Amino acid sequence: MTGHRSFFLEEALDAYVQAHSPPVDDVQRSLIEATASLGPVARMQVAPDQAAFLALLVAAVRPMFAVEVGTFTGFSSLAIARALPDGGRLLCCDVSAEWTDIAREHWSRAGVDDRVDLVVAPALDTLRALPADREVDFAFLDADKAGYLAYYEEMVPRLSPHGLIAVDNVLWSGRVLDAGADDADTVALQEFNDHVMSDDRVTSVLLSVGDGINLIRRA
Ligand SMILES: C[S@@+](CC[C@H](N)C(=O)[O-])C[C@H]1O[C@@H](n2cnc3c(N)ncnc32)[C@H](O)[C@@H]1O
Repeated sequence: MTGHRSFFLEEALDAYVQAHSPPVDDVQRSLIEATASLGPVARMQVAPDQAAFLALLVAAVRPMFAVEVGTFTGFSSLAIARALPDGGRLLCCDVSAEWTDIAREHWSRAGVDDRVDLVVAPALDTLRALPADREVDFAFLDADKAGYLAYYEEMVPRLSPHGLIAVDNVLWSGRVLDAGADDADTVALQEFNDHVMSDDRVTSVLLSVGDGINLIRRA
């Protein structure tokens, strides 16, 4: 999804949404600029209104243990980490040392680096290494789409009773509507959304924020 624009909103309405959401501060602005300098991959960064939404969820859930799968340069993790309660920790999973170095720099500038644990490795290995009884209070999934189902299956059994899983890009710019789609990412997202709907362990709502967020809790 684009760094600064909710996908399904026309420009004027998007500007209105941003104007009625928390403004970005100096650390976020620096992070947007550092990410933009990477070129087209900057599109992977969540939009400021999505980050504000994640922060609001985290402030409400008050997770002692949060997990992010897909950290990139750190915009979403910065929002999550800042909203954690005292003693709360965030485990960040990503495969890129280059991109997460930018994240580290901005966690440090924001003074939240001491509450973030970054593991640079395939996320599924990191999640599977968590103890089975390690309760997760908040999870944000935003990595490779083909991996979503496996990440979800690692998170659901560990999800605390009032915990939430937020899953990004579930509308995939609207391509999930294409019943004949045969590219791996679209098919993975279609299967993921269908799986969540039919999973009686959870209750979910699919929000058209950004590029679509599937918000999931235990049933
Ligand atoms: C869409 S970006 C995440 C954007 C980020 N949430 C933000 O707000 O800037 C996806 C990230 O997933 C990471 N990724 C891709 N495959 C992965 C895997 N198997 N395990 C862990 N991370 C992975 C990529 O390196 C990339 O940084």
